[in-house]
Amino acid sequence: MPAPMTFPNDFLWGGALAANQYEGAYDADGKGLSVQDVMPQGIVGPRAEAPTPDNLKLEGIDFYHRYKEDIALLAEMGFKVFRFSIAWSRIFPKGDETEPNEAGLAFYDRVLDELEKYGIEPLVTISHYETPLHLSREYNGWADRRMIGFFERYARTLFERYGRRVKYWLTFNEINSVLHEPFMSGGINTPKEELSEQDLYQAIHHELVASASATRIAHEVSPDLKVGCMILAIPFYPLTPDPRDVWAAKQAERDNYTFGDVHVRGAYPGYFLRKLRDKGIELDITEDDRRTLAEHTVDFVSFSYYMSSCETATQEREASGGNLMGGVVNPTLEVSQWGWAIDPRGLRTILNDYWDRWGKPLFIVENGLGARDELITGPDGTPTVADDYRIDYMNDHLVQVREAIADGVQVIGYTSWGCIDCVSASTAQMSKRYGFIYVDRNDDGTGTLERYRKQSFGWYRDVIASNGASLKA
Ligand code: BG6
Repeated sequence: MPAPMTFPNDFLWGGALAANQYEGAYDADGKGLSVQDVMPQGIVGPRAEAPTPDNLKLEGIDFYHRYKEDIALLAEMGFKVFRFSIAWSRIFPKGDETEPNEAGLAFYDRVLDELEKYGIEPLVTISHYETPLHLSREYNGWADRRMIGFFERYARTLFERYGRRVKYWLTFNEINSVLHEPFMSGGINTPKEELSEQDLYQAIHHELVASASATRIAHEVSPDLKVGCMILAIPFYPLTPDPRDVWAAKQAERDNYTFGDVHVRGAYPGYFLRKLRDKGIELDITEDDRRTLAEHTVDFVSFSYYMSSCETATQEREASGGNLMGGVVNPTLEVSQWGWAIDPRGLRTILNDYWDRWGKPLFIVENGLGARDELITGPDGTPTVADDYRIDYMNDHLVQVREAIADGVQVIGYTSWGCIDCVSASTAQMSKRYGFIYVDRNDDGTGTLERYRKQSFGWYRDVIASNGASLKA
């Protein structure tokens, strides 16, 4: 009997966070403002003119000052990899300067020192929903072609400074989310309701060219650097077997596929060009753009996976909740406290689909359950959280990853989202927690910021130590 397929020996187990959601210190050591600093309620409330005290992201969980303690906790769990983003406005406070801010660069040197101490591989997101606010207000973010140059300078600065210590890079977090959240994702200042599709798709084009260009620069700096794209992945299922529903689901998936198709295949797919034609959109694409896209495709594909959704063209639409986008409710699935459908099998589906489509190594760089946690006293008298619901969620998803590996899919690693509790991207709440580590901070900003190990902490440590053998099928 052949041995069951399992996780490869060099599988990268770890967790993920983003600067704007955990660093805090929003104006320390020369840092400029980012779009997040004027989003006190995430995407569910209005933007502010300037930072306001109710914006929990300004202080985050104060990783900026507590990074040693936090990285030690990640090491205690046996992390092989830690995904984090660099705050663009720490390095280029306004975004259009020619010289970087040394104090900002030095902070990430210190973080990398600490990771190196424990042998944890860094995975760096270059841009995670934190466009410098100045670029948003002065240039209208990615709607302006000059953003490509600013991003190239920023990316080159990072590759040259950290390229000897950081092998894995992601260009834009959930690049396809710009379709739904143009301000948070693309720094586009024009209100969503007033933004023309012409401008939106042109902004997308600029981001795609910038991503390819960053890949070129990374490979120039060192051929050892590996650059990936990052897609918000949602499998869309037809609500019924009616062929019109099947087609509707396919169209919804293609909205997301487009981004991977360009990153991996180096050109816009025919179905996308047709969509532009149908909408009467003519993009400004130069010969240079085409060459850049074609010649500098990604080394791997990464994605976030939280949920699946349904689509229909024939039934009444009951809108589903979802991670920045959604379709219609799948009546067969349970949902999280925030209405996101829980679908471990969808992860196997997406892994197989992406592998079949692109044949590139895949990296799951976000997955997890946002839930309200209750702090209790553990058997040894220290505070903890009995988060069996989180353990179940992650166990069931990881079992499906193992299935996909057995299906022949090449998966490099898995970084669960929000490995330490942080501020939510969509709702800017602290109470939407994902972590193995509880942070004492509340939605009203009170709390000591103390860290406590949840029960999932020990569970994940065992999963990593056993290379997945402790998972329960
Ligand atoms: C992804 C983002 O969309 O989902 C993260 O990349 C985000 O930044 C995560 O935090 C979970 O979403 P939320 O809204 O629950 O924080």
